[in-house]
Amino acid sequence: MPSAITTAFGIDIGGSGIKGAPVDVTSGELRAKRRRIPTPQPSTPEAIAEVVAELVDAFDPDPAMPIGLTFPAPIKHGIVPFIANLDETWMGVDVPELMSAAIGRDVLGVNDADAAGCAEVRYGAAKDVAGVVLVSTLGTGIGSGLFVDGTLVPNTELGHLEIDGHDAESRAAASIKDDEGLSYAEWAPRLQRYYETVEMLFSPDLIVVGGGVSKDAKKFLPLLDLKAPIVAAGLRNTAGIVGAAALAAEAYRGTGPRGQNAAGPGGRPTAGARDPR
Ligand code: BGC
Repeated sequence: MPSAITTAFGIDIGGSGIKGAPVDVTSGELRAKRRRIPTPQPSTPEAIAEVVAELVDAFDPDPAMPIGLTFPAPIKHGIVPFIANLDETWMGVDVPELMSAAIGRDVLGVNDADAAGCAEVRYGAAKDVAGVVLVSTLGTGIGSGLFVDGTLVPNTELGHLEIDGHDAESRAAASIKDDEGLSYAEWAPRLQRYYETVEMLFSPDLIVVGGGVSKDAKKFLPLLDLKAPIVAAGLRNTAGIVGAAALAAEAYRGTGPRGQNAAGPGGRPTAGARDPR
């Protein structure tokens, strides 16, 4: 029975690593230690599809297990409209179609921050939080997942807000902190400028900060002065894998969000989110 699905496989494609693990979608916990393979360079569609196939093969998930995959760019009806942090040949590619062909089974594709946000809303720091929640991921780029009473507004791309004449993520992403060798105290004013702008525009009730650097949240969140509470992600950097798996399971059951990247109207997956059956 579709409703009996309790495990789904999640894959998280990032600028530096591609990670995967089976996920218990009732608890949001990984069912096995995740595997990570460095993102190939150049990060072309073909090269990444090969790594995704290798990851799936390594776990050999049950053929009935839904598979969800995150991607570090917007995914509109399956298609990548623009790409900031992987090879530019991704532009115009149908991600679920390419990945489904590479692994020989249907895959749901979703923006990485939208997936991480869904995980935080279902199992983590934003669970049962009403109102406007922004889940912000700090990594190679800055991702955003915007929720209203738990419902996702997909593909918000708030890392690309232009602030003080800069693409925001080119100043404030965690990768920039590393590249420029900034301390947390030196990085914090850039985060302050970013989050105060987002706060002015969206009036969130809660901001959740994810991405690998969120494990050090105590070192930089207390340096920020915002109206809304700003807290570290509950799932840290497994949120992408968990969110992708959860959305794939929901699409399988027909209970997923009616956004463009998950189950469509009537619970049927849209072109952007191939039905994992
Ligand atoms: C991309 C977003 C993504 C974020 C984090 C940005 O550059 O445009 O789609 O969510 O990086 O990976």
